[in-house]
Amino acid sequence: MESMNIMQKPHAVCIPFPAQGHINPMLKLAKILHSKSFHITFVHTEFNHQRLLKSQGSESINRHPSFCFETIPDGLPPPENLDVTQDTPSLCKSTSETCIEPFRKLLTKLNNATTTPPVSCIISDGVMSFTLDAADELGIPEVLFWTTSACGFLAYAHYDTLRQNGFFPLKESADLTNGYLDTIVECIPSMKGLSLKDVPSFIRSTNPDELMVNFVIRETNRAQKASAIILNTFDDLEQDALHELSLIYPRIYSIGPVHMVSKSMENKDLHNLGSSLWKEETACLEWLDSKEPNSVVYVNFGSITVMTPQQLVEFSWGLANSNQTFLWVIRPDLVSGDSPTLPREFLQATINRGLLASWCPQEKVLNHPSIGGFLTHSGWNSTLESISSGVPMVCWPFFAEQQTNCWYSCNQWGIGMEIDSDVSRKQVEKLVRILMAEEKGEEMRGMARVWKKKAESSSSCLNIDKLINQVLLRS
Ligand code: UDX
Repeated sequence: MESMNIMQKPHAVCIPFPAQGHINPMLKLAKILHSKSFHITFVHTEFNHQRLLKSQGSESINRHPSFCFETIPDGLPPPENLDVTQDTPSLCKSTSETCIEPFRKLLTKLNNATTTPPVSCIISDGVMSFTLDAADELGIPEVLFWTTSACGFLAYAHYDTLRQNGFFPLKESADLTNGYLDTIVECIPSMKGLSLKDVPSFIRSTNPDELMVNFVIRETNRAQKASAIILNTFDDLEQDALHELSLIYPRIYSIGPVHMVSKSMENKDLHNLGSSLWKEETACLEWLDSKEPNSVVYVNFGSITVMTPQQLVEFSWGLANSNQTFLWVIRPDLVSGDSPTLPREFLQATINRGLLASWCPQEKVLNHPSIGGFLTHSGWNSTLESISSGVPMVCWPFFAEQQTNCWYSCNQWGIGMEIDSDVSRKQVEKLVRILMAEEKGEEMRGMARVWKKKAESSSSCLNIDKLINQVLLRS
């Protein structure tokens, strides 16, 4: 397909859910498809497009004739400023209720254009299943990209079963704290030993009409209609969950870690095409250059997590008392209701061994030889980026399927240790010390390197070729 005339190219429209953890893997996948001679239209929301212009600059957005960007509104009122992280449930509701019309209009516009090939397939985020109707109307294949782990997706796919088994809604809010969440959930066959607290967190609610539970059930049901489902994982890592998923969704492809696969394939012209909604502070890489191998713990809670001011302070003392060197990325909106403020004594105590930043180039940081451990919220991209850099984790999960990713990291993959949800400085101090300075941490580093090797030799590249030939190029 290399020397193909532009009008003969297959044309994939890629539309991520408008949040950082979804945009990143979708952009990587789009770059992979572009390297396989697809014409790409990448669809952002208007709000995120503005944010990207601010964080990345205009030339990094539209620079290639066969990799184009378009926008549609997200259906929410415009936030006060461009640095606001949008509320996930509100976005789920507004995208599912309002985006289909602008998306249809966009597809019509693309199909009427004389300089680009007709749209031949849609790659949509798994939680944007409204797009399936548009694909159906055009008679073209649509693939749903669930950007969660396979285990997270499998647990979501069992939400209805959990409801039928009486795990949702909770009988009373005291169930959140009285040990009830430790009940073992036996209705997901490949997850032996999983307790209710390790299931994606939305079901911890007494409200039978909980928006996110209904949303997840609807989206996982509608996923049956997709031409195929793709997951950002690799076979060795999640074999059992993938097998069980394939019984529910027969056409499922594991194509990850997409950031690793795309690195080896992407067109050089697209190298600088980034997707960070915040401006990356690259000075931390030079700071890391001055440190010994495996000597720095990297702390980052992703793009959505919010903690209380009390949690921030408690955590910060644990980190300080561990006496380890750290790079801690604190998003400007990490703390609920206020800008994050650290105790002056913390800053004084760690002045010679801590670096704070507000957003960083995470993949590069995790691949830096100085990084010996990652203290993470267990978002799936962060987990996968850590695995593919051979870095073990201390996991402090907050919401969604972060709990499930944490459970697998700690109990199945041997590369994680969990911080309890009621964070205590003592536990943080202890786990960070173990991670960075004790034998168990070293063993986990060894295990993480084993997973890194397995990720490098995975069959994901072959699976991508299969996906293209069996689904995307289907006429
Ligand atoms: C969330 C959920 O946590 C995740 O499990 C779900 O699948 C997607 O939505 P988020 O909380 O943002 O995502 O975490 P994560 O999945 O880890 O994604 C964050 C992304 O932002 C990663 O690709 C990470 O490399 C990037 N990042 C984060 C940076 O580039 N720099 C930073 O400073 C922080």
